[in-house]
Amino acid sequence: DQARQIQETMAEFRLSKGQLLEVKKRMRMEIERGLKKETHKEATVKMLPTFVRSTPDGTENGDFLALDLGGTNFRVLLVKIRSGKKRTVEMHNKIYAIPIEVMQGTGEELFDHIVHCISDFLDYMGMKSARLPLGFTFSFPCHQTSLDAGILVTWTKGFKATDCEGEDVVELLREAIKRKEEFELDVVAIVNDTVGTMMTCAYEEPTCEVGLIAGTGSNACYMEELKNIEIVGGTEGRMCVNMEWGAFGDNGCLDDIRTKYDQAVDENSLNEGKQRYEKMCSGMYLGEIVRQILIDLTKRGFLFRGQISETLKTRGIFETKFLSQIESDRLALLQVRAILQQLGLDSTCDDSIIVKEVCGTVSRRAAQICGAGMAAVVDKIRENRGLDHLDITVGVDGTLYKLHPHFSRIFHQTVKELAPKCDVNFLLSEDGSGKGAALITAVGCRQRDQRS
Ligand code: BG6
Ligand code: GLC
Repeated sequence: DQARQIQETMAEFRLSKGQLLEVKKRMRMEIERGLKKETHKEATVKMLPTFVRSTPDGTENGDFLALDLGGTNFRVLLVKIRSGKKRTVEMHNKIYAIPIEVMQGTGEELFDHIVHCISDFLDYMGMKSARLPLGFTFSFPCHQTSLDAGILVTWTKGFKATDCEGEDVVELLREAIKRKEEFELDVVAIVNDTVGTMMTCAYEEPTCEVGLIAGTGSNACYMEELKNIEIVGGTEGRMCVNMEWGAFGDNGCLDDIRTKYDQAVDENSLNEGKQRYEKMCSGMYLGEIVRQILIDLTKRGFLFRGQISETLKTRGIFETKFLSQIESDRLALLQVRAILQQLGLDSTCDDSIIVKEVCGTVSRRAAQICGAGMAAVVDKIRENRGLDHLDITVGVDGTLYKLHPHFSRIFHQTVKELAPKCDVNFLLSEDGSGKGAALITAVGCRQRDQRS
């Protein structure tokens, strides 16, 4: 009855509709705690104000630099936006590596490296003397007090550079530019990737008022009524809120659905106890959950002839792209075995069937709980507007959403089931967050000019 025992293990990951509705309900509760003055300080879902007050209207204009840090790739971009009847956006970008020693070294090294990359990009474009306005997509939780100030609350994902938490990252960037003494830049806005994605999509589709990232990390933002964001205050209008929903569950409210494998992933991570929801549903961790299950099944003698190889002990071997390949329906089992072989895992045909099922079970739960979170968000927006029915667009980006063969479908289906009063249209972002950051920078420059 090996098969039964394997099924029992998998069963812990299979959530009922009732359980998913419960996840949705708890997300909604945490949203309220994050928004309210009395509770926001200890809230786990931080609901951070972004000082972005509207989506683009087509009047944005000018040439901007953008940085995009925190996802799979670090990019420097030049974005040329032209307003008017035939509005256009032209982009040039270059991808740079951020070595792991730099991600986890000192803050000064990290920001010097970033400025070094900007310098290279300006040389490449022949624009060293231009002094352009810059929008900084920085995909980590920041406490903002204005468009151009953001105090890093905590690093997430694979970053852990010293002396940055509690600091204004815009200042850290400005100081690094000064140290370099090669060029001047005008840092106008700091932007979360969810917000950049929402803006990128809203430029094409004005009904887009929500942004979602299902990539290395997991997070969402949306346009909230200003009167509900108690720490900012105000009576009229809206502001985009960076939810930082990855931290959902950090107060223990998801413990009943977390498995011992989730706990093992957490214990093995750079930020134990933090980002518990993100660790159940984003690309950086799904492969780790799979690996923990495979280790356990091997120990119990159900897999790999009971032999735990060095490969299986290696953190991070199952990247999103491998999971996506393994779960592809077009792949024969023989090809699954070839992928495992590439990773250094010798498998039998039976092994490969089990591995594929483990991957499918883990990614299905990820898509479902992510969908439950999104269902809470769109229902909140619907209630904000006093509507029985809401039509809305969500702008989406991220490797998990884009590469995985089933994640997006299961995610959509879950949102539909859990938020039946909302018609949600999902729009894939083609141009990344850099474009959105440039649009926000354009508005920031205009507001500043009007003030002076
Ligand atoms: C990109 C954005 O398109 O999507 C990044 O420009 C963002 O800023 C990313 O972080 C999320 O995807 P991933 O999978 O690279 O983390
Ligand atoms: C992490 C970050 C968050 C970001 C998300 C997606 O959750 O904390 O700011 O939006 O990853 O990249």
